[in-house]
Amino acid sequence: MTETDALGTTASGQSYADAARDHLWMHFTRHSVLEPVASGGLGAKVPIIVKGKGHLIYDDAGREYIDGLAGLFVVQVGHGREELAEAAARQARELAFFPLWSYAHPRAIELADRLAANAPGDLNRVFFTTGGGEAVESAWKLAKQYHKLTGNPGKYKVISRSIAYHGTPQGALSITGIPGARTPFEPLVPGAFKVPNTNIYRGPEHLRDDEEAFGRWAADRIAEAIEFEGPESVAAVFLEPVQNSGGCFPPPKGYFQRVREICDEYNVLLVSDEVICSFGRIGSMFACDDFDYVPDIITCAKGMTSGYSPIGAMIASDRLFEPFKHGTTYFPHGYTFGGHPVSAAVAMANLDIFEREGLNDHVKQNAPAFRASLETLLDLPIVGDVRGAGYFYGIELVKDKATRETFNDAESERLLRGFLSKALFDAGLYCRADDRGDPVIQLSPPLTIGPAEFADITSRLRSVLTEAQKLL
Ligand SMILES: Cc1ncc(COP(=O)(O)O)c(C=O)c1O
Repeated sequence: MTETDALGTTASGQSYADAARDHLWMHFTRHSVLEPVASGGLGAKVPIIVKGKGHLIYDDAGREYIDGLAGLFVVQVGHGREELAEAAARQARELAFFPLWSYAHPRAIELADRLAANAPGDLNRVFFTTGGGEAVESAWKLAKQYHKLTGNPGKYKVISRSIAYHGTPQGALSITGIPGARTPFEPLVPGAFKVPNTNIYRGPEHLRDDEEAFGRWAADRIAEAIEFEGPESVAAVFLEPVQNSGGCFPPPKGYFQRVREICDEYNVLLVSDEVICSFGRIGSMFACDDFDYVPDIITCAKGMTSGYSPIGAMIASDRLFEPFKHGTTYFPHGYTFGGHPVSAAVAMANLDIFEREGLNDHVKQNAPAFRASLETLLDLPIVGDVRGAGYFYGIELVKDKATRETFNDAESERLLRGFLSKALFDAGLYCRADDRGDPVIQLSPPLTIGPAEFADITSRLRSVLTEAQKLL
């Protein structure tokens, strides 16, 4: 009997690993690795995670791992919180489901009120979804309709940044700037244009040592794109506070202030896509506060419930809602499960934990120590850059540190998929080795961890990266 069998079998009598290989379609996953060697696959077994406690997770063989990615940038308060499970059960008993289609329920009302109170400026109107991609999709639709209602029917285009990920529905995917995620589904929704991101490590050479000048340059690319496309045709700009994909690009000083000016000048809506960065990831409830700007729309999801139940939201300003207050005008858009009562109840209980345990302050106080710990890895020749903010960091790997030369596709494949992902997991650290841009390792742990865990994560990274160097 294998360890997997010890966990149990499915109703059809297969081990979990075999049934996963044969029946489960995993997301963004190359299934060939699981196929038997005899059929041309690699014969690997999918890791099966069965339990979580705090910042630790456990697989089906009972092995323990640090959850260095909070699941998928989600589990802010850590795993195994009884009170969140109880909040879900209590709500399911009282009212398991009701939609927000011309009706309301108490938990959605309470949560909308609480999010509005936490959001900056006049962002007071909360439209619930079931996740982040739907929130992004909703924001583009709102931007289009808002401009139509306010006398600018030609404004439908959107601008976002190179390599940024904004979700997979076809509108959100058009906004996404990762070629590999887009090309199989082209043609996508027309009207989505890309500008450079804020990767200063690979920015124009003459600007790399001047953060403010680089920020100004990057922001002005947005103005340039608006001018190229015609201001009368551009509806919105979608930006993450810290761009995830590509490896944690924080905004240079002054960047968002200049973007805000540009958006105001051209009557273009600024959408802060905070699906990852909100709910304490950077240290505030909404990360636009961390970087001192007020967007027109915030999109958020993931950490709102710490993943104990799915929900997302688009939070819009009073100005954007104003045209919807009159006559027969309405937003013809919605999701059956948007603002699900169980998820809304869990979100309220999750935010109670944030307040009671002071999680945002904890992140603010400990982020410098987390960064400093990871920066000790910069003595390794393979580590080119450590960047990020709050509890959200990317470590860029390079072939030649002096020239910043990166790996070619074959080397990157061998290093990240062939070695690093598995080696990190074998070393007891679940995190992400990502090659959607230049190769990076990404960390986004539960917000509850502190210096002891930073040191543990760094030492595991050091031993695996030291081994990785030997393969080069
Ligand atoms: C910035 C951003 N926007 C949108 C999404 C899509 O969210 P979801 O996977 O919940 O649809 C993600 C997911 O990681 C994201 O990081």
